[in-house]
Amino acid sequence: MTDTTQTEPIENTQPLLQLNARVPDFEAKTTHGRIRLSEWNPDKWVILFSHPADFTPVCTTEFIAFQNIADELAKRNVALLGNSVDSVHSHIAWVRNIKDNFDVDIEFPIIADLDQKVSKKFGMVHEASSDTAPIRAVYVMDPDRRLRAMVYYPLEVGRSFDEFVRLIDALQTVDEEGVATPADWQPGDKVIVPPPATTEEAEKRLENPEYDVTDWYFSKKAI
Ligand code: BEZ
Repeated sequence: MTDTTQTEPIENTQPLLQLNARVPDFEAKTTHGRIRLSEWNPDKWVILFSHPADFTPVCTTEFIAFQNIADELAKRNVALLGNSVDSVHSHIAWVRNIKDNFDVDIEFPIIADLDQKVSKKFGMVHEASSDTAPIRAVYVMDPDRRLRAMVYYPLEVGRSFDEFVRLIDALQTVDEEGVATPADWQPGDKVIVPPPATTEEAEKRLENPEYDVTDWYFSKKAI
C-alpha cells in the first residue's frame, strides 16, 4: 500500500509524457509473443494499461472489467494491451486462475516487463507509490501512435471502465467532426463548435442558424 504518512514526501521531478506527441516505441515479450508497439495493430487505436501486480484482488476485478469492455472497444477499432512487471508464466497462471474463479477469458496480450523497460519509458513507476510496481496507468493512442489521453489511478482504487469507452467515443468524434465535447458528453449529445477566431466570425456566429448559439464563444450542434 502507498505510504502517505511518510514525513519527507518524494518531490515530483520526472517529466510527463505529452499528449499529442508520439508515444515511445518499445519491443516487449507478451503472453501473445514478442511485439514492437509501432508494428503491432498498426491500423488500430491502442489502449496500453498497467496494473501493479498479478494475483492481486483489485487488479483481478480490473482485468475482468477490461475484458468486459473489449468487444465495445473492438467495435471502435481499439486493441487492448496490458502491462506489469510480472513474468509471462505469472501472467499465464493468473489468466488461467481468472478463468477458473470467474469464468472470464482474458483475451488481450499482457507485457511481461520484468526489467521495467516499458514501465519506465511510459512513466508508470511512481516511486512515491511503489518503487517496483507500476501504478494504474492508461494510455490511449491513435493509429499514428500519438498519445491522445492519459489516466492515472492510485494502487488502491480500481478504475472506472465505462469512462474508457466514452473517452474513445469522444476522441473519435473530435477527430471525425472537428469539434470538442462538453462535460459528461455521451454519444448522441450535442457537441461544442470551436469558438470563432476573429471579431468578424464572432459577429456571424451569433446569427448562424445551424448552431445552438448561447453566446459568440459558446455554440453547440447536433451531429
Ligand atoms: C490490488 O490489486 O488489490 C492491489 C495491488 C497493489 C496495491 C493495492 C492493491
